[in-house]
Amino acid sequence: MEEGARRREAYAQRQATALASAGDRSAAYGRVLRVGVPDFAHGVALYLDDVTVSFDGFKALNSLSLAINVGELRCIIGPNGAGKTTMMDCITGKTRPDSGTISFGSNIDLLRLAEADIAQIGIGRKFQKPTVYERLTVFENLELALAADRRVRAALFSKLSGEQLDRIGATLERIHLKDEAQRTAGLLSHGQKQWLEIGMLLMQDPKLLLLDEPVAGMTDEETERTAELFLSLEGQHSIVVVEHDMKFVDQLTQGRKKVTVLHEGSVLAEGVLSDVQANEKVVEVYLGR
Ligand SMILES: Nc1ncnc2c1ncn2[C@@H]1O[C@H](COP(=O)(O)OP(=O)(O)O)[C@@H](O)[C@H]1O
Ligand SMILES: [Mg+2]
Repeated sequence: MEEGARRREAYAQRQATALASAGDRSAAYGRVLRVGVPDFAHGVALYLDDVTVSFDGFKALNSLSLAINVGELRCIIGPNGAGKTTMMDCITGKTRPDSGTISFGSNIDLLRLAEADIAQIGIGRKFQKPTVYERLTVFENLELALAADRRVRAALFSKLSGEQLDRIGATLERIHLKDEAQRTAGLLSHGQKQWLEIGMLLMQDPKLLLLDEPVAGMTDEETERTAELFLSLEGQHSIVVVEHDMKFVDQLTQGRKKVTVLHEGSVLAEGVLSDVQANEKVVEVYLGR
């Protein structure tokens, strides 16, 4: 089993245990509320300020500052080793920075939360490799993901309500897998597995979605459909996409959205894609490798 899937399964199990001992759902709510409810009134979904991470003295992130607005779709590009994945690791609590600030909304200090809590308060992450439950059907994968939603945790132990079935149906449609609902996930194409994993994230209705190279290994057609999918999510979720495929970034940003270029752990340039691609410093770091 993939590491991510193992992690999820362990998590689902922990939730089940917590639920059984708590007796009902309100106790679980209480736990989330203690962590806090993010405040998005100022329009900022995610804020990184002066974040530095060193690995044996090497700075993977070097005083990185970045803000993502509520509902924004932001593409982050940069050569290999720029620190893109490390940035996501810091946001999700997998790696602790040496210094700096990371907040969710204007009030939640992510550096004080455990990885599982960060996922619970509405930050969903997709790793580079798809991590789905290969032996379950597409539908069952989504059902399990729904059960991890704090609002419907009890779903694991009861029949799905009409509303939950509708949510799964809507997600199946959105990720282009309606006709594959009863198929074993292991039999899907690589691209379809990626979509399924995105669907699983969507079942938890995250406020912020972090997607690391989501179209790597996809066919051109799958890549185009993925861009359409992300564009359809814009506004409802804040989305951070790390990607190398410039055609995909162009399709996502439509010549007007801001792209951030990371290099050596900090922001090298920001602007629309055509501008950053024409930027001398950016050209240099891409050609220099
Ligand atoms: N756990 C780690 N231990 C040591 N070095 C790491 C670790 N994670 C990342 N790095 C290094 O940090 C730099 C940034 O890596 P990464 O964030 O994966 O870059 P990107 O995703 O932009 O390609 C690279 O030089 C990488 O080798
Ligand atoms: Mg990476």
